Amino acid sequence: MEDRIIGRVYRVNGPVIEASDITDAMMMELVRIGEGRLVGEIVKLAGNTAVIQVYEDTTGIRPGDDVFGSGMPLSVELGPGLIGTIYDGIQRPLEALLEASGEFIAKGITRPALNREKKWHFIPSPGLKAGDTIAEGFALGTIKETDRVSHKILVPAGKGGTIKNLTAEGDYTVADSAAEIETASGIAKIDFYHRWPIRKPRPVKQRQPLKIPLVTGQRVIDTLFPLAKGGTVAIPGGFGTGKTMTQHAVAKWCDADIIVYIGCGERGNEMTDVLMEFPELIDPRTGTSLMDRTILIANTSNMPVSAREASIYTGVTLAEYYRDQGYHVAVMADSTSRWAEALRELAGRMEEMPAEEGFPAYLPTRIAEFYERAGYMTVLDGEEGSVTIIGAVSPPGGDFSEPVTQHTKRFVRCFWGLDRQLANARHYPAISWLESYSEYLDDVSGWWETHSGTSWLKNRAEIMELLQKEVRLQQVVKLVGPDALPDSQRFIIEVCTLFKNAFLQQNAFDDIDRYSSVEKQVRMLEIILTYSRRGADAIRRGVTIVKLRHMKIVQDIARMKLSVANDDTTAMDKLEARLERAMDQLESIYE
Ligand SMILES: Nc1ncnc2c1ncn2[C@@H]1O[C@H](COP(=O)(O)OP(=O)(O)OP(=O)(O)O)[C@@H](O)[C@H]1O
Ligand SMILES: [Mg+2]
Repeated sequence: MEDRIIGRVYRVNGPVIEASDITDAMMMELVRIGEGRLVGEIVKLAGNTAVIQVYEDTTGIRPGDDVFGSGMPLSVELGPGLIGTIYDGIQRPLEALLEASGEFIAKGITRPALNREKKWHFIPSPGLKAGDTIAEGFALGTIKETDRVSHKILVPAGKGGTIKNLTAEGDYTVADSAAEIETASGIAKIDFYHRWPIRKPRPVKQRQPLKIPLVTGQRVIDTLFPLAKGGTVAIPGGFGTGKTMTQHAVAKWCDADIIVYIGCGERGNEMTDVLMEFPELIDPRTGTSLMDRTILIANTSNMPVSAREASIYTGVTLAEYYRDQGYHVAVMADSTSRWAEALRELAGRMEEMPAEEGFPAYLPTRIAEFYERAGYMTVLDGEEGSVTIIGAVSPPGGDFSEPVTQHTKRFVRCFWGLDRQLANARHYPAISWLESYSEYLDDVSGWWETHSGTSWLKNRAEIMELLQKEVRLQQVVKLVGPDALPDSQRFIIEVCTLFKNAFLQQNAFDDIDRYSSVEKQVRMLEIILTYSRRGADAIRRGVTIVKLRHMKIVQDIARMKLSVANDDTTAMDKLEARLERAMDQLESIYE
């Protein structure tokens, strides 16, 4: 198919090529250019001219070079072998390319996204046989892809019908035939993989309301600004405030089944960190390697901008494919600002009319289209699956009023704003408790309350109210000094300081602290609230703040995040009992 010449290069402008003498081409068609067969996509068609966005370095391409058509849009390959692989923005397998061409990837080199030699063990769905009818999106059988991922071989969209032939249990490559199905438009041969255009959302049966949190093990997130499975969140933050660290922490510890991590225009060494670290890390819930659930897409700052533009669609399409198999998938994009900059650069080269800060007028539409691909769905075969999207935003100068942050805010329902002052004070994660929000609180409160048996939403509201009061009290302190405040108000500041140190700050490098279970978070908050409530009571009875502050138990509370293991409920029970006793004692003196 690649030898069908559909036109000729007319002008080269960086990653954008204009072609003339175009015949028989379609919008968004995947094309190849010149002798090197560089991969590109038709982004504009007018008469017999086309504008092509090229995904590789175009030096060496000259006017007159041939443009070859493929007859299909830019697509990804979907099948077993995706997990654990590192791809670039157009799903070229980076390791295989490096093996083929040495240290730098030679131009025009192609390797299939899915290994064509590797054999997989296929087990047909129980009871399924020739003569049965099967609808699109249903499983012909399964392949064990990794220790934790059982990969369903789905009937691709539009290929449902009567099974003529179903491949028996055995070992096959992705290019072998899984079945032959008689569809309304003839016999379809189904392989163990299929292609899907990256810019087109995969079909589902129905969108569901969000109810289940994506538990991340990060206390400030789960307890204060929870994300729902199928939801969307933005992490905006200035240079070096912890966007990547936050994304990595969520990628490592969240309770999604599959992680798609898109390194989009960031430094190469950040991706190397992921590559070195993930295989070593063990998922606390399953005991398997974290790489067994992770797909990496690396389009670092030194790679072509147009592939960066494509990378987020490639990532979200892979995520939807696992969602369609009934999995909960989390997609991280770091950073969507670099993606928007790619969009701006390409738009500039296509001489499109710039809107705000040089971004094209369709920037908000594109951002919306990306986040809309998140959701909790009933998939075609009736199972449930979800795609959650977590996008980092890097506003220049940390100024959240710039277009990418502002538009993103319109389309996400959760916002983890990173605060420069907190980062400078080494309060990590530097997620601001004043600027961040989650619109999923009511959605997920039912889950939290059944799983923890506590008034989760009420407890959260109580601590948030104290944090807000503290801001006002701190302003007073600034004006007139702490001594002007009555003990009851100074105690609020005391409780908030404890909460920030003992709860909100979380050390990503500590073996215990890096991940807090649901149970541990709930108990920690309760203990701090007990201290707050009983302390306020004690002050009313005449206990001084100095006495409260110097209780030995307060130091133990401050250390519980580091000293109490996630499943050690006995230690939490003891801590709580000791706190109650210490408070009883303190009050008894004043009775
Ligand atoms: N949760 C954390 N625990 C410990 N240290 C952290 C944490 N978050 C951030 N840091 C510190 O801050 C540094 C910068 O973090 P990170 O690279 O995530 O920032 P960034 O916002 O992604 O930066 P850039 O704008 O360069 O992409 C880290 O190298 C680390 O030292
Ligand atoms: Mg970063």
